[in-house]
Amino acid sequence: MIFVILCETTIVTTATAPAKRSRAPARRARPPRADADAVTTRPARRGDLPHVVAIDAAVTGIAKPSYWQSVFRRYGNGGQAGRQFLVADAGGRVRGFIIGEVRDWEFGSPPCGWVFAIDVEPDYRLAGVGARLLAAICAGFRRAGVTKVRTLLARENTLVLSFFRSQGMMAGPFIPLEMDLES
Ligand SMILES: CC(C)(COP(=O)(O)OP(=O)(O)OC[C@H]1O[C@@H](n2cnc3c(N)ncnc32)[C@H](O)[C@@H]1OP(=O)(O)O)[C@@H](O)C(=O)NCCC(=O)NCCS
Repeated sequence: MIFVILCETTIVTTATAPAKRSRAPARRARPPRADADAVTTRPARRGDLPHVVAIDAAVTGIAKPSYWQSVFRRYGNGGQAGRQFLVADAGGRVRGFIIGEVRDWEFGSPPCGWVFAIDVEPDYRLAGVGARLLAAICAGFRRAGVTKVRTLLARENTLVLSFFRSQGMMAGPFIPLEMDLES
């Protein structure tokens, strides 16, 4: 069985990242090559997709260009209809991305923002890029009229859990359930 954890936080303001509530679990070295101050966030463009595919492949070990094309068709619309596909841009090259959308009444919940994916290129980690991406998507959710953001993550992904916890997200009210479907 695969376990997942559901985290959520209340979006307080459109201008700032959610308040940090916990410290990182361990001291880590800062990345030597990244110029994180030069990174800006913006909506994804079709030409960004090769970089997105490469970052995802570096994290997961699998290149999925067709999958990312279909994600772009659904979310790469410049933030329409509560859908957001944002990238962290350093001098025209994508170094990270985040994807999410506002969903209405899923699981009986009032409309809220969901973050489905976040990835930062290894050389650009630990420099605030992930926090900037999350702040940007939360600002978009707030503009879309919601005050809560949620995400799901694998229980063993302690890196992503540490990141979301550091940004103020905590366990939410839902429990993930699953079962194998016999043929
Ligand atoms: C999680 C991730 C997005 C964080 O991006 P990042 O740019 O390094 O994050 P930030 O620099 O903004 O870090 C913000 C906070 O997160 C926490 N954090 C980030 N990386 C951490 C690590 N390696 N260990 C512990 N805490 C960490 C820290 O509290 C950090 O704040 P601090 O630097 O002041 O201590 C990035 O590590 C990543 O892409 N990991 C792989 C993601 C993945 O598995 N995606 C697939 C599932 S969606």
